[in-house]
Amino acid sequence: MQQAETMAVAAEEWIEVGRLEDIPRQGARVVRCAQGDIAVFRTVDDEVFALRDRCPHKGGPLSQGIVHGKRVACPLHDWKIHLDSGLAVAPDEGCAARFPVRVEGHRVWLSLKEVAT
Ligand code: FES
Repeated sequence: MQQAETMAVAAEEWIEVGRLEDIPRQGARVVRCAQGDIAVFRTVDDEVFALRDRCPHKGGPLSQGIVHGKRVACPLHDWKIHLDSGLAVAPDEGCAARFPVRVEGHRVWLSLKEVAT
């Protein structure tokens, strides 16, 4: 019984985003959820990261930016955001919320539990 409860909690926390191939390299896919849009990014090396789809500058859609290495350039004013921390690259300051994401096989899983910074 207890095991069933644990599995139910785990199923709620992680949602399947789709296949890795569905996310363009150096781009992103947007997951819409009650707390707001989350951008799931794919690097040229097939690493994935997830950030709130709101630039810490003026709320630009980070999912429409281009990924270079482990950073994304905001399409509005070109701030660079670290994908692994959500922090703006200095001298800019600010942070986009981060979410856990993992790849199993070719499937991408996202947790809607924001990572505490
Ligand atoms: S809103 Fe992203 S750089 Fe200004």
